[in-house]
Amino acid sequence: MILDKFSLKDQVGIVTGGGQGLGKAFCLAFAEVGADIVVAEVNSETGAQTVQEIQNSGRRSLFIETDIRHKSSVDAMVKKTVAEFGKLDFIMNNAGVVHWQEAEDNSETEWRNVIDINLNGLFFCCQAAAKQMKKQGGGRIINIASMSGLIVNQPQKQTSYNTSKAAVIHLTKSLAAEWAPHLIRVNSISPGYMEGPLAGEYFEDPQYGGVWFDATPMRRPGKPEELCPIAIMLASEASSYMTGSNVVVDGGFTLW
Ligand SMILES: NC(=O)c1ccc[n+]([C@@H]2O[C@H](COP(=O)([O-])OP(=O)(O)OC[C@H]3O[C@@H](n4cnc5c(N)ncnc54)[C@H](O)[C@@H]3O)[C@@H](O)[C@H]2O)c1
Repeated sequence: MILDKFSLKDQVGIVTGGGQGLGKAFCLAFAEVGADIVVAEVNSETGAQTVQEIQNSGRRSLFIETDIRHKSSVDAMVKKTVAEFGKLDFIMNNAGVVHWQEAEDNSETEWRNVIDINLNGLFFCCQAAAKQMKKQGGGRIINIASMSGLIVNQPQKQTSYNTSKAAVIHLTKSLAAEWAPHLIRVNSISPGYMEGPLAGEYFEDPQYGGVWFDATPMRRPGKPEELCPIAIMLASEASSYMTGSNVVVDGGFTLW
């Protein structure tokens, strides 16, 4: 059956930033199609809540307090996952932050924090996961980039974010080429404006949401659950010939 290829039954996956927003939706969706999920979060309260919801749905789940900015924390995340579940089949690198400010006024700390989480931390996660996947004979890595890696948003000024996400798209391609011989597939998803804590509070504001959705052919934000089927495809056998792809899910925003 073609739909069997989308199953993640008895697969083990990590989701970074799984405590809220898109990350939480990915965790619950992966569990729904059969995966056991490690929720790797810097926020222990929200992380534990997601774990509880996954367990309530009948799958195994573990919270691992992780700050992806630190390589030691990321390495421990993968080590604990394998100690608990015996393997790592896929990782969804979702944790990310945005900072709005005119570029000339970005402090060194603010600039570094965005790059440290969105790019450096994501790379440490790819690296640690790939070391384990190489030993196992393969795996799948899904990176959450953004349409901001392809275009420059307006009116908000977010150069550090746009830069970090453009780098994630090219990092994904580079790693895909390098790790294809190890049967590790690496793809990214670039969402447009999505409902949730990161951008949701601005949707009703004509100065922001008004501008954004005038520029979106579908005239509305996406819902987290509208990204989940793509995430499942990239984590599963359904995408067996895909690597280095950047899947844009933006209601058409980047068309105009
Ligand atoms: N929401 C959108 O409109 C949108 C659009 C395009 C891309 N994205 C991307 O999707 C991803 C998720 O966005 P979201 O809207 O769910 O954001 P969110 O702020 O709701 O959630 C991000 C999660 O990452 C966690 N996190 C932050 N720093 C961390 C760290 N150092 N280590 C581990 N976890 C950390 C946070 O605690 C939080 O739970 C991000 O990479 C974001 O850039 C979001």
